[in-house]
Amino acid sequence: MKVLITFRFFDEWVNRIRENGIEIIQWKEEKAPPKKWIMDNVTDVDGILCTLNTRIDKDIISIAKKLKVISTYSVGFDHIDVKEAKSKGIKIGYTPEVLTETTADLIFGLILAVARRIVEGDKLIREGKWMIPWQPDFLLGYDVYGKTLGIIGMGRIGKAVYRRAKGFNMHVIYYSRSKKYDIEAEYVSLDELLQRSDFVVVTVDLNESTYHMINEKALKMMKRNAFLINASRGRTVDEKALVKALEEKWIAGAALDVFEEEPINKDHPLLKFNNVVVTPHIGSATFETRHKMAEIAVENLKRGLRGEKLVYEL
Ligand code: DGY
Repeated sequence: MKVLITFRFFDEWVNRIRENGIEIIQWKEEKAPPKKWIMDNVTDVDGILCTLNTRIDKDIISIAKKLKVISTYSVGFDHIDVKEAKSKGIKIGYTPEVLTETTADLIFGLILAVARRIVEGDKLIREGKWMIPWQPDFLLGYDVYGKTLGIIGMGRIGKAVYRRAKGFNMHVIYYSRSKKYDIEAEYVSLDELLQRSDFVVVTVDLNESTYHMINEKALKMMKRNAFLINASRGRTVDEKALVKALEEKWIAGAALDVFEEEPINKDHPLLKFNNVVVTPHIGSATFETRHKMAEIAVENLKRGLRGEKLVYEL
């Protein structure tokens, strides 16, 4: 059996795959591999282990004649042509659940950071700009406790954010395209959520219906003192519209872990705003969680190679 690993993966886990007598072709550079490298190496592999940085599209799937399984080291799978793979009987594994709480922690961190101006405060001290010990009107932000939190998409991560919000005595409203859930949070339409929330948190998957769902129209509906938080996929938000919203002060700020293009360019207009907090797609980035994700991704791969049902299969 032969497996293509499209990213720099922990040696420990690569060795565990190898222990099973599996031949490995691995991309080891920091940057994602070019499509040509994948096309050149995929023709006779039985499995692919990838991350969200590698598009596994129709062209790749169609020349990978022996492919049995695509295992992605992520919960998101918008980088894989799922329909095409399934039509060829190729199994697709992913890593949900283990990163839910970790990602919700980060989302809460982003809410607190942007509302209470934590990053601005840190920067100001380091730049030697903290001049007076305490001032009544210095670096004022907004309360989080007791506010209205709007969650778009009430999947696993949405529910984990909801559980945290209860501890902050927040009123939680949510919109979910698929269904209402049996939870205490109030189900509302998307428009109502945008109009009422102090914090709008996007937790949806990226697909045709969620692409740019936060656009100019949506941002205009938000309150002037509301914040947008996104740790799902960058392309759910129209960044041009967001820049306009921030320039014209339609909203109070934004906290973003994901971007339309990653890594975001350091000259991107979003980065000129003090009321925007940014992190480099680290929702699941803890030692514990990345280890658990590795365990599942490798198990999915091995089971797929053996033709068995995966631990988490799409
Ligand atoms: C995922 O898994 O899809 C996240 O975006 C990164 O962990």
